[in-house]
Amino acid sequence: MVDCRQAQAADAQAMIAVHHAAVRQIDQKHYPAELLAIWSPTPSAERTQWMINLIANSATLATVAADSTETILGFALVDLQASTLKALYVDPGCARRGVGSTLLADMERRCGERGLRRLTLNSAYNATAFYQARGYVSLGATEQPLAGTAVMGAVHMSKALLPSPGS
Ligand SMILES: CC(C)(COP(=O)(O)OP(=O)(O)OC[C@H]1O[C@@H](n2cnc3c(N)ncnc32)[C@H](O)[C@@H]1OP(=O)(O)O)[C@@H](O)C(=O)NCCC(=O)NCCS
Repeated sequence: MVDCRQAQAADAQAMIAVHHAAVRQIDQKHYPAELLAIWSPTPSAERTQWMINLIANSATLATVAADSTETILGFALVDLQASTLKALYVDPGCARRGVGSTLLADMERRCGERGLRRLTLNSAYNATAFYQARGYVSLGATEQPLAGTAVMGAVHMSKALLPSPGS
């Protein structure tokens, strides 16, 4: 069973590990290895602190998917002010079992409850079909800034959220 809940600082290290593993398994037909290495540097105390800061930021909604043993299977981050999904990562060890879809649907519900009417995102090429199958439409090509001066090609996408009951 997969349970989605708000992320806590104690989850940060596991979230960084999932981020790293998920990016490193992306097929190099989408992005070269050098770019994947910039996208997700080797886990470190600095990377964990970066995630702790995001979780603590009230402008960010951070959720994790955990199994019955509290193992973190994936996570999602939304910038509430920009109505933008900034991150969705699933451990490759449990890929294609619906964890990403569950996290995304849960995040859309939470955003709807907070009054957001739309979510936008910059999809990596490997994930575009995943988002399309979940109702996101392409708004065109874009570039996603990475660390330093690096950028990666991406697809800007958007989806209207259902109003939450009572709003
Ligand atoms: C994109 C990502 C989050 C998807 O996570 P996931 O948990 O594998 O997603 P799901 O299992 O919910 O769905 C993935 C696909 O597997 C399929 N699937 C689900 N369960 C399945 C099963 N038991 N057997 C086979 N296929 C299955 C789904 O139909 C879906 O296919 P579709 O996209 O063609 O419709 C994950 O691949 C990931 O972390 N990628 C690397 C990081 C990344 O690119 N993140 C997005 C940045 S924009």
